[in-house]
Formats: sequence, C-alpha cells, structure tokens
Amino acid sequence: MEPVPNDIADPSLADLGHRRIEWAARRMAVLSAIQMRFEKEQPLAGKRIAACMHVTSETANLMLTLRAGGAEVVLCASNPLSTQDDVAAALVDQGIPVYAVRGEDSETFYRHIDAILDTDPHIVFDDGADTTTVLHQERAEQPIVGALEETTTGVIRLKAMAADGVLRFPVVAVNDSATKHLFDNRHGTGQSSLDGIMRAANVLFAGRTVVVAGYGDCGWGIAERAKGLGAHVIVTEIDPVRAVSAAMNGHRVLSSLDAAREGDIFITATGNIHVFREEHFAVMKDGAIMANAGHFDVELNLSQLGDMAEAVRELRPNLQEYLMDDGRRLMVVAEGRLVNLGAAEGHPADVMDMSFSAQALSAEWLLQTHETLDNQVYVMPEELDNEVARLKLEAMGGGLEELTAEQVNYLASWNQGT
Ligand code: NAI
Repeated sequence: MEPVPNDIADPSLADLGHRRIEWAARRMAVLSAIQMRFEKEQPLAGKRIAACMHVTSETANLMLTLRAGGAEVVLCASNPLSTQDDVAAALVDQGIPVYAVRGEDSETFYRHIDAILDTDPHIVFDDGADTTTVLHQERAEQPIVGALEETTTGVIRLKAMAADGVLRFPVVAVNDSATKHLFDNRHGTGQSSLDGIMRAANVLFAGRTVVVAGYGDCGWGIAERAKGLGAHVIVTEIDPVRAVSAAMNGHRVLSSLDAAREGDIFITATGNIHVFREEHFAVMKDGAIMANAGHFDVELNLSQLGDMAEAVRELRPNLQEYLMDDGRRLMVVAEGRLVNLGAAEGHPADVMDMSFSAQALSAEWLLQTHETLDNQVYVMPEELDNEVARLKLEAMGGGLEELTAEQVNYLASWNQGT
C-alpha cells in the first residue's frame, strides 16, 4: 500500500503503536459497539472528517470508528507534547493520514492544522478550538458543515464567538455532555494528572500538602484522588459555591497566596491565565513542585519564573528545576503543559470510551441535523448521552432499574401521596 500523506516522527514505531491501540480498544466497549454499528450502517459515508486532537491510542480508536462509519479521516495534534509517536505511525500504517510529531514547535503545529484543513473537511473535531479559530481567522471562505469541541477551554472560546455573532457554523460542545465532563474531566484528569506528576518526579503524595487551583470538574477529580492517596488538600477558587463545595468535601480552601506558602505540590486546573505568578513563586517552599492540568500552558507564569530564576535545568525527563537567587529550587512538570498528557499517557481508555463515544454519536447527529441548526453551540441530545451511559453501565456489568407502571403514574401525577 502507498503511504498516505503524513508528517510523523518515525514510521518504524508502528508495531508498538498497533499494540497500544489494541490494548486501549479492549477497554473501550461502548466505542467498539458503535464501531460495529457504524460498519453496518455507514452513517458517515462520503464525509471528510479532520480531527485536531491528542494523538493517543484512545484517539486512534475513535479515528478507526469514524472510518468504519464510512468517513475519510485525517488527524493532527492538538498539543505539541501529547503525541504518542508510535500511535501516529500505526495510524499512518493503517492508511489514516496523521500530522503530529511529539515536541513539535508552534510553527509546525499550525502547519499541521493547515494540512488537515486542506483536505476540505465536512466536519472538524477540535480540542481547544484552535482549528475552529483558524477556520474563522484565516479560512473564512472555506465551507464546513460544523464542528465538535472536546474541552472546556474550547467551549468557552466558542460560546464567546457565538455571543459575538461571529460563529459561522454549528458546533457541538461534546465537553458539556454529562457522559464527557462528569467522567473524563473528573475521573480521567483526576487520576492521570497525579500519574503525570508521579512519573516525572516519583514523589509520594501521602502526607504532602497538595494545592489544587480551581474546583471545577477537573479540580474536583484531582483533589479527590490526591486525598485518596493520603495528601492534605488545599483548594483555591474564585467561585464561592464551588469553594464551599470543596470545603464540605473536606478540603481546606485558602487564597492562592496563603496556599502558596503551604503547598508541596501545586496543580492548576482553572482554564485561566497566570494563576501562580511572581508573588506566589516568591513565597513557595524549596522543592515545591508545580504542574498544570488546564488546557493551555498559561496557568503558571513561567516567563516570570524564568526571569526570577538564576538557572533552569532539566533535572529528570519532564521535570524542570528553577534555581532561585535565595537558593530555593522550584520544580515544574512538563513545561507547564497538560501534565497528564505531557508526563503520562492522558486519560485511561476506560474513561475516554465515554468521551469518544459521545464524539462519534455527536458527529452522526450533526450530519443528520445540521441543516436545521443555527450557528450556535449545541449540547449533544440527552437521549444520546443516556445511551452512552447505558452502554457503559452494561459494559461494567451493572444493571439499570426500570420504572414500574405504578411508578410512572405516580411520578406523573400531582394529586397522590398526600
Ligand atoms: P470548570 O470551568 O468546570 O472549572 C474551572 C474552575 O476554575 C472553576 O470553578 C473556576 O471558578 C475556577 N477558577 C477560574 N479562575 C481561577 C483562579 N484564578 N483561581 C482559582 N480558581 C479559578 O473547568 P474544567 O472542566 O474543570 O476544566 C478546567 C481546565 O482543564 C480547562 O482548561 C479544560 O479545558 C481543561 N481540561 C483538561 C483536561 C486534561 O486532560 N488535562 C481534561 C478536561 C479539561
């Protein structure tokens, strides 16, 4: 077979990539069921799909599912540090064009986005809204049916575009499906962010003070898992309701400056900019470790940290040490990029099964309904969300209770129970 167009690190890694994809597939029962249906029904026949996502073994299974549904698929990386080069090689080996090289620079990153958009896709799968932004800023004439967005940060950007009236096609905020954010963001980010810090620094969490900035879905998961490992958790929040929720889950809630003095390990998950900056770096303990789980590498102000430091060195793979002029050493994991993808392997397949099933069903729904949609941000219909959850429960060996006729009647009536 002629090699498909690609820009990857090393085609000879394909064999390892195939095995990783197979291992992930075994824990993606819902996506596998969708793949089998897609093979039969061909709901994406003749459609071109361009995806800008983390190039991981789970994403590979999503790409194979879309192709099984009849789509022509092309993939580039949504983050320069998350690409699994062996998986990229395996996909190319299976005839799917991939543009992704782990560690690629910013110019290459955007060149790769251009490469996938040059295929004239009907649908774009985005993660962080970079591709959708290029489609608005540089390719305003390019026709497109619509897009899907995977993460909170991308959805925020897209809702801002819709509010300004500039969004030029409908978008499904897959992130906002219950079966995505309540599981992927919470359980996936929770576990894999700690995994990234452990791999990079090999630290013990038990007995340490872990500061979690932001108590949204991701922060909730990180805080719960750190607590489970025996850490004392401090949460910082700007939202009073979420702050109280953290307090009632047993965490201390402090201002970021107070937290900075006490923390041993800091993890940001806010989707915001410069959450930890000069004033915090000035008071952190010697040996404090900082990591970011938010989408962009802006949550830690590393340019300020670099200016404050006398020297910077890579102490271990994915662990940078900043030597301060007073002798303190502040540590940063994976250059402040998504810690779970930069220093570990991202979310386990078991949870991506739900997110990517939501993606696959959303693509099918978007193709069926786009002519009736406005240029707005939509959530996947509730029945599809429930279908993903039902299949997942089944795959986990659980059983769902069904309402009796009497119960249906009771719930629908207003004059019983007095
Ligand atoms: P969310 O919107 O549910 O939570 C963010 C929280 O941060 C909110 O409660 C907000 O009040 C708080 N916050 C904002 N600015 C703050 C500040 N300066 N200090 C303290 N708290 C602040 O968002 P979610 O879903 O938890 O996502 C957070 C980030 O993680 C986003 O950038 C998202 O794209 C990203 N993400 C990363 C994943 C990963 O694999 N690492 C997976 C899913 C999402």
